Amino acid sequence: MSVRIAIIGAGIMGADHARIVAEDLPGASLQVVCDASQERARKAADEYGAGDASDDPLATIRRDDVDAILIASPTKPMIASPDETHAPLALAAIEAGKPALCEKPLSQSSKECQDVIEAEVSRGRQFVQLGFMRRFDPSYREMKAALDDGSLGAAIMMHNFHRNVEAPANFTGQMAITNSAPHEFDVARFVLGADYKAISVFQPAGIDASRTGAPVFMVLETDKGQLVNIEINNNAAYGYDVRGELVGENGSVFLNAPIHTRQNGRLMSYERYAPDWRPRFAEAYRLQNKAFLNFVRTGEFPPIAADAWDGYCAARVAEAGVDALVKGARITLARAEKPSLYKH
Ligand SMILES: NC(=O)c1ccc[n+]([C@@H]2O[C@H](COP(=O)([O-])OP(=O)(O)OC[C@H]3O[C@@H](n4cnc5c(N)ncnc54)[C@H](O)[C@@H]3O)[C@@H](O)[C@H]2O)c1
Repeated sequence: MSVRIAIIGAGIMGADHARIVAEDLPGASLQVVCDASQERARKAADEYGAGDASDDPLATIRRDDVDAILIASPTKPMIASPDETHAPLALAAIEAGKPALCEKPLSQSSKECQDVIEAEVSRGRQFVQLGFMRRFDPSYREMKAALDDGSLGAAIMMHNFHRNVEAPANFTGQMAITNSAPHEFDVARFVLGADYKAISVFQPAGIDASRTGAPVFMVLETDKGQLVNIEINNNAAYGYDVRGELVGENGSVFLNAPIHTRQNGRLMSYERYAPDWRPRFAEAYRLQNKAFLNFVRTGEFPPIAADAWDGYCAARVAEAGVDALVKGARITLARAEKPSLYKH
């Protein structure tokens, strides 16, 4: 029988998830699209053939004709919405006994992430798969495989670059840490199989730190002694560009973006950049959602997917990063005890 999915939040990501569920996920059906704006919910529902549209997320989660929830509402007071929605909606899905694929981050508050962890631990099973989809991206997976098969030798450094065309209005350096960097925090931790021990955050001298899209440059130290640097530059102007290189004792691995063509003309040769993240990570979103469908069907949590514990780890390091930025100091993180429910 088809797994009936409700999508909550029908903005950029929610509409993309609705498209994937409707067109690219055999065995799933798009049952309801819910958005705080009924008009937006209806538009996405009509476009992707959902059975129903709603503006009530809690009622949507509780519906008898909904088997699983995909949360793509905002995490943070971006511009219009005053709500931190992910953790409360994840808790509502757990309460209803339904698996949820929750867009990142689980919460910007590590305390709220702990609430979700506690709810899962008290029920003795996992419900929440977290949308750190880079774990499913073929280039990051090859990078991790090169480390795991021993061909790189021991990992010593990982470089990460996250560049966007233009930051949204009022997007500060702190938001670069809490909103953009969680992907890098998670994927570097996943590739290296390590946890963070300390974080330092820098901004280029001479820039106004409150300026929209002010870049940040982070250096993280892992409990295995590796160094991870992360550049977040959301005003890079030229395109959406995510780069990474893992450096081992015997070699290194670079990420390649899936670029299909190279154009020549006027004594130049060039490749195109996408304006946002969707084309770069299209395959990762599809594979992530496929893994979620399998999780709903079997109850087996996907081995490489991020879970509530990973959400907590990302929130903790982001909080420490904001602290490091504000104080201009290296901030250390205490070791955290992972509940046995979270196996990988
Ligand atoms: N995985 C990724 O690569 C990736 C990329 C971009 C954004 N995101 C995450 O996806 C989430 C959504 O981002 P977006 O860019 O689609 O935002 P968006 O602003 O385009 O869309 C959010 C939608 O949620 C609706 N909404 C607000 N509060 C709601 C509520 N309580 N219940 C139901 N709907 C509500 C809004 O009306 C809006 O339509 C964010 O948390 C963001 O961090 C993830």
